[in-house]
Amino acid sequence: MPVKTAVIYYSATGGTHKLAEAIAEGAREAGSEVRVLKVKELAPEEAIASNEGWGNHIRETSNIPEATLADLEWADAIVLGSPTRYGGAASQLRQFIDQTGPLWAKGALVDKVGSAFSSAATAHGGQEATILSLLTTFYHWGSIVVAPGFADPIQFAMGNPYGVSFASQNGAVPPDETALAAAKFQGKRVVETAARLAVNRNP
Ligand SMILES: Cc1cc2nc3c(=O)[nH]c(=O)nc-3n(C[C@H](O)[C@H](O)[C@H](O)COP(=O)(O)O)c2cc1C
Repeated sequence: MPVKTAVIYYSATGGTHKLAEAIAEGAREAGSEVRVLKVKELAPEEAIASNEGWGNHIRETSNIPEATLADLEWADAIVLGSPTRYGGAASQLRQFIDQTGPLWAKGALVDKVGSAFSSAATAHGGQEATILSLLTTFYHWGSIVVAPGFADPIQFAMGNPYGVSFASQNGAVPPDETALAAAKFQGKRVVETAARLAVNRNP
């Protein structure tokens, strides 16, 4: 059975979505079945209309399904991604996470592999803080956190051992080749770890 990976993200202007797709690519190349899933947009129309890039991104990704609790149950590995909002995750992703109480209560997320990623306007704008705040969720779920660390040479170029991230200058700059390669590595590492855990569960 291939490892099943759910890459669940929020993105307003598209940068975090590009990282999600690169993580999915790395996971697929490592043999995983992958679902790329966005979370529901909660912002009011007038806020979206105030930023052309935001509206364009919503239209461009209208074909991407919205994540459900069933996707979390389906997955062996869950990768959560969000742009940085004042040093934390976007409320749209938190709103999805906040619906997982019933899964948590029945232990449905125990022993799944968890990993996280982010983007921010600036290099020191809170990327690590956002990733760490998402990883905290996995600790409560009883999931097994897999960070990229410096487990591959690409990590020395990307520079963030907690998870892939990049500085977008407020959405003006898409993830560069280094960030995309690190994202692929993170997807691969998540899948390879989940596969090892699956082998140990069913010897
Ligand atoms: C309400 C709000 C808060 C933000 N807070 C931060 C922040 O604390 N630090 C930062 O560097 N960028 C911040 N940003 C910028 C975004 O995190 C950044 O542009 C991100 O790369 C957007 O990702 P996306 O293209 O996936 O939407 C904020 C943006 C918004 C709209």
